[in-house]
Amino acid sequence: MIVTSRLRLDALRDDDAPALFMYRSHPDVARYQGWQPTQLDEARRWIAGQNPTDTPAPGQWFQRAIRRLESGALIGDLGACMPAEPGMWVDIGITLAPSAQGRGFASEALAGFLAWLFAGQLVRRVTASVDPRNQACMRLMGRLGFRQEAHFVQSIPWQGGWADDVVWAMLAHEWAALRGDTVEDRGGTTR
Ligand SMILES: CC(C)(COP(=O)(O)OP(=O)(O)OC[C@H]1O[C@@H](n2cnc3c(N)ncnc32)[C@H](O)[C@@H]1OP(=O)(O)O)[C@@H](O)C(=O)NCCC(=O)NCCS
Repeated sequence: MIVTSRLRLDALRDDDAPALFMYRSHPDVARYQGWQPTQLDEARRWIAGQNPTDTPAPGQWFQRAIRRLESGALIGDLGACMPAEPGMWVDIGITLAPSAQGRGFASEALAGFLAWLFAGQLVRRVTASVDPRNQACMRLMGRLGFRQEAHFVQSIPWQGGWADDVVWAMLAHEWAALRGDTVEDRGGTTR
């Protein structure tokens, strides 16, 4: 379990399905997402397919619930596709229920998740792939200190057309520098 000042990140459970279905199927939440449940059972099956332990499996998605620390209420989820070998890179994604947006919870949850990924040396590079029309997510990446590394134009087939893809990245030593820590980068640079 990952704990931050207002949140805890842990495994998704079967009884999360109704809340998860409500926010994941909301049109504003689903607009730029690849997966959107159309029925409660679909959300239930998706949760059943997630890793229920605190240990990520190499090469598989590691999806965590985002819960309010005090009440345990589910307010969103985040995840990363773990590398097949430790120390490589992951792509991350995050979703918040509309009622939980605009309060800093996504920044707080992702900062906790990044700290966990980098501290355990599970990865040395984290990326996020964002549709640039998704302005809330673009701001989130900038706020966390990710570098905008690429902007691919009309590179993703999307709803019968094409969408741009902006790639944001963070290296372990960049994360450490943001926090004022000193680490040796596995690529050879020392900060
Ligand atoms: C992307 C997403 C997670 C961002 O959520 P968010 O609530 O905007 O981000 P945060 O939780 O970090 O909140 C930051 C906002 O809250 C405000 N805020 C209010 N109180 C705050 C606090 N105590 N601490 C920090 N920020 C606070 C900030 O000013 C900021 O507002 P701004 O973006 O208008 O400048 C959310 O829009 C979402 O779930 N979208 C749908 C799913 C999606 O598209 N996911 C991304 C796919 S790549």
